[in-house]
Amino acid sequence: MAFVLITSSLFIVILSSLGLLLMKILTRKPLKKLNENTYWGPGERPKTLDTTIREFEIEVPKEVLEDLQWRLDRLRPLIPPLEGIQQQYGMNTNLLKVVIDYWKNKYNWTERQNYLNQFPQFKTNIQGLDIHYLHVKPQNPCNKKVLPLLILHGWPGSVREFYSMIPILTTPTEDREFVFEVIAPHIPGYGFSQAAAKPGLNPAEIAVIMKNLMNRLGFKKFYCQGGDFGAIILQSLCILYPENVLGFHTNMASIQTPMAYIKYFLGVLYPNWVTRPEHRMRIYPLSRSFKRRLRETGYLHIQATKPDTIGVALTDSPAGLLAYILEKFTTGTNSAWQAREDGGLLEAWNYTDLLDNVMIYWITGSATTSFRLYAETFNDENLKEGLLRHPLQVPTAIARYTRDFYVADSIIDELFPNNVYLSDIDGGHFAAFQLPEVFANDVFCAVDKFEKININK
Ligand SMILES: *[C@@H]1O[C@H](CO)[C@@H](O)[C@H](O)[C@H]1NC(C)=O
Ligand SMILES: *[C@@H]1O[C@H](CO)[C@@H](O)[C@H](O)[C@H]1NC(C)=O
Repeated sequence: MAFVLITSSLFIVILSSLGLLLMKILTRKPLKKLNENTYWGPGERPKTLDTTIREFEIEVPKEVLEDLQWRLDRLRPLIPPLEGIQQQYGMNTNLLKVVIDYWKNKYNWTERQNYLNQFPQFKTNIQGLDIHYLHVKPQNPCNKKVLPLLILHGWPGSVREFYSMIPILTTPTEDREFVFEVIAPHIPGYGFSQAAAKPGLNPAEIAVIMKNLMNRLGFKKFYCQGGDFGAIILQSLCILYPENVLGFHTNMASIQTPMAYIKYFLGVLYPNWVTRPEHRMRIYPLSRSFKRRLRETGYLHIQATKPDTIGVALTDSPAGLLAYILEKFTTGTNSAWQAREDGGLLEAWNYTDLLDNVMIYWITGSATTSFRLYAETFNDENLKEGLLRHPLQVPTAIARYTRDFYVADSIIDELFPNNVYLSDIDGGHFAAFQLPEVFANDVFCAVDKFEKININK
């Protein structure tokens, strides 16, 4: 009798502790209200902050360009790849040599600077930081409704990723009732946007800056589109400021809830419960997905822990920076390109396109400050806050590119209960840059759905 009593009470204790544990990981911390005036600039907060909007054009001093040429001319001998190896050990130096030669001899900065300056650009100071952004309005809206669209890049990207897509987004077509006015900022610490001088500028705090930027431009309500870190920042913005967002299109939905993980694990037993049969290979076997993640995310661990150390090398060596960034454009676009010496780069871009993006990091010396965003994101304090475990109240659209991160159908509801549009598109991680027309069309389709919802509200 005593034995039965002891085992059954033990059983109850174990069961209830498990239940409590589950409760604990499934409940979310309440949303913390962020200070919308936090000052991120250097030194003490000045008494008054300049709130003007200033026109901006890229104009790189001659010395910076001469210095770059000087460094490229003094490249030390590259270590050849191992026999029979293409990109599997990282950037293939035979390929790198070809791109460096192109950079030195064919890439014409005067022409590229004109190209990059083709859209109206501005800077304005938000919370102590000069934020750079493109602001492109339709030249001839043809009586269509003009909708504000905030689009945000990630790492190792820049606004350059959007250059082919912007004219499509801002040009009216007969079959659509609306057209976009595009606002494309650089994340603080990226390209021509000033970097924080103080620690703590995580995606939620950047979301505050982006919201303040849009408000300063006169937009109380706007659409958002984000990929990579831009997606994380704008997902945060949607959670913090749903009243400002008309709809959110993401090509990197982040759904990292305990329940999502539990579902993925249970799917080992019965994958069809978690995802469509034709998508099964994208998650299972879990060991393969896990190994792939581990193999491709070494950079993330470095940048999340010691960004300033790796930053020294990549701010000092253009060849190093080029290798570090181009590697992502090969494997991030198609993992099968690892087995090609040319890295597949020319299938999606040409060297000019890719070097424009690298130049934005080089001329602004923003390697280190761009890496720091990882440290500000993947730290205990930020993760504990668990902002991204809150569901989005705004209407959303998720684009899943076939060669990019994947979210299974069954977990979408966890954080995107108002998802009105889900598309599966053949392409890679830098989709807006790789497939501007397809990408723009997908955004138009999503916003078409959003507009119908918003009109009926
Ligand atoms: C570079 O481009 C500029 C502007 O398009 C042009 O005037 C110049 O001749 C070009 N330089 C070379 C070396 O091709
Ligand atoms: C590179 O591709 C772009 C389109 O992305 C094109 O406009 C440009 O002319 C190409 N440049 C060269 C040098 O082939």
